[in-house]
Amino acid sequence: KRHLISAGDLAKDDALLILDTAEELASVSERSIKKLPTLRGRTVVNLFFEDSTRTRISFEAAAKRLSADVINFSAKGSSVSKGESLKDTALTLEAMGADAVVIRHSASGAPHRLANWVHGSVVNAGDGTHEHPTQALLDAFSMRRRLGNLEGRKVTIVGDVLHSRVARSNVLLLDTLGAEVTLVAPPTLLPVSVGSWPCEVSYDLDAVLPKSDVVMMLRVQKERMNAAYFPSEREYSRRYGLDRDRFAKMPDDAIVMHPGPMNRGMEIAAEVADSARSTIVEQVANGVTIRMAVLYLLLGGETA
Ligand code: CP
Repeated sequence: KRHLISAGDLAKDDALLILDTAEELASVSERSIKKLPTLRGRTVVNLFFEDSTRTRISFEAAAKRLSADVINFSAKGSSVSKGESLKDTALTLEAMGADAVVIRHSASGAPHRLANWVHGSVVNAGDGTHEHPTQALLDAFSMRRRLGNLEGRKVTIVGDVLHSRVARSNVLLLDTLGAEVTLVAPPTLLPVSVGSWPCEVSYDLDAVLPKSDVVMMLRVQKERMNAAYFPSEREYSRRYGLDRDRFAKMPDDAIVMHPGPMNRGMEIAAEVADSARSTIVEQVANGVTIRMAVLYLLLGGETA
């Protein structure tokens, strides 16, 4: 495959190859070999039209650990503020010789369009409310490292599914990997299309928690929120927040995940986020490893 745009494009063998490659790269890093020569002479462009901390920095770290040249582009401060289009921006980067373009954009479908305009590989780093495939891969990698094989594992994803590209990519990938996903959300924060997603839906978090191997809390995306969807933070937290009492309802070996950034005290209590059963910091570290695996597999490791 040349691009990574949707988690749904990955067959089980593709997904396992990425996870296994990441495992090999992690074992190389653990042997204190921080930098590999694999992508020397290749150029990776990080094209970020939307804010990011984890994804942008981890793609940069991943490309540098594989010895690629990295160009970081952020829409703020660029000619996008003068009205330059995505296509013209992409063609400018293409002229600079990008072998891979990592794109985050507020418009769902932007990476798909970009793939028609550039010769290099396109990696979706989050498009609108659509998908975030490398987040789903790093989440699956984090689950596998803690729990082993994901076949038959019960994963509960909780919160603002409506605005969550992380939820959609996770549902698609986890289904491919044989896990059983249940979404828990207020009815106003579920997309209309959820009936066709390969997962169950529940409105009762307390009933689902004792049967979960993984509980993944989603950020309430206030910046995308219409007030009609969201009555009050207090009410949301009371019904859908993972507080100490709810955490106690989970099986003793179940883990808690969150893609970040978190609203501490709203969707997740600070003491739960910081507990030993939380993988939140591991997810960030695993993000670098997964993105190394993705760049390595897409760019093939051959010198241009
Ligand atoms: N999880 C995630 O995508 O975080 P950033 O928005 O900080 O990249």
